Amino acid sequence: METIKKWLEDATFPQDQRRPLVTLSYAQSLDGSLAVERGHRTLISGEESMRLTHLIRAQHDAILVGIGTVLSDNPQLTVRLSPGKSPRAVVLDSRLRIPLECNLLQRKDHRMIVFSGRGVEAGKQAALEKKGAVVLENEATPGQPINLKEALGALWEHGIRKLMVEGGAKVIASFLNERLVDRAVITIAPFWLGGLALIGQPLVQNLGISSPAVLPSIREPSVEILGSDIIIYGQVGEVQP
Ligand SMILES: NC(=O)c1ccc[n+]([C@@H]2O[C@H](COP(=O)([O-])OP(=O)(O)OC[C@H]3O[C@@H](n4cnc5c(N)ncnc54)[C@H](OP(=O)(O)O)[C@@H]3O)[C@@H](O)[C@H]2O)c1
Repeated sequence: METIKKWLEDATFPQDQRRPLVTLSYAQSLDGSLAVERGHRTLISGEESMRLTHLIRAQHDAILVGIGTVLSDNPQLTVRLSPGKSPRAVVLDSRLRIPLECNLLQRKDHRMIVFSGRGVEAGKQAALEKKGAVVLENEATPGQPINLKEALGALWEHGIRKLMVEGGAKVIASFLNERLVDRAVITIAPFWLGGLALIGQPLVQNLGISSPAVLPSIREPSVEILGSDIIIYGQVGEVQP
């Protein structure tokens, strides 16, 4: 755990990009499943790797998830199993489906950020702001994916320098697909789940004859065993397959 902690602290920031450093971190089974099925909260990490997740959270200014994860897991995204401050929560939610009673809106330690689509219903926006949330309108229209580059720029303007991206499947795929991941810490639990996987998500859109595939990958990966889980981590770049 100490080696990963040290590596996390030695962050190299993206040069001249005015966007936060992005760390992708999630847990999967041996067959790449993130949950039993979409919409189901599934405990994949063991005790020690869960502690690592909280340690990673404490190292970041903000933690981002998609609305799918909020609706299915109702997470708090706080730091409870490690010393340190809880990061600010960020949710991608183009249609403002976030429930007013969700756990993230009950947190008193921060003003969560919700990225909505352009021209979304004003009443819901006002209700969220009354609950303490900051709603940032994105150029995407409701129902379209939030433009991630624009969102990262806005987070930078809000003082966020280190962003952890925790899920779910669609959000992970979007960040990888747009090559917006700087480093990754992935937990692999030693069982097969046969559930919701990144497989089938449009991960590599630029496959084709005229444009040779360039895959997002962990360069020079490091591996550690925590409890019975395998942790693979490192800087993310591209490789020619
Ligand atoms: N194993 C793990 O580590 C882990 C971690 C987190 C979650 N999960 C699991 O993942 C599942 C949820 O994943 P999910 O794929 O259904 O939902 P998700 O990735 O959490 O959220 C996807 C939703 O976010 C919104 N969104 C807005 N902009 C987006 C963009 N640029 N890219 C992607 N999504 C964008 C879209 O809804 P709108 O169109 O309404 O905006 C989209 O449907 C749950 O079962 C949860 O338990 C597992």
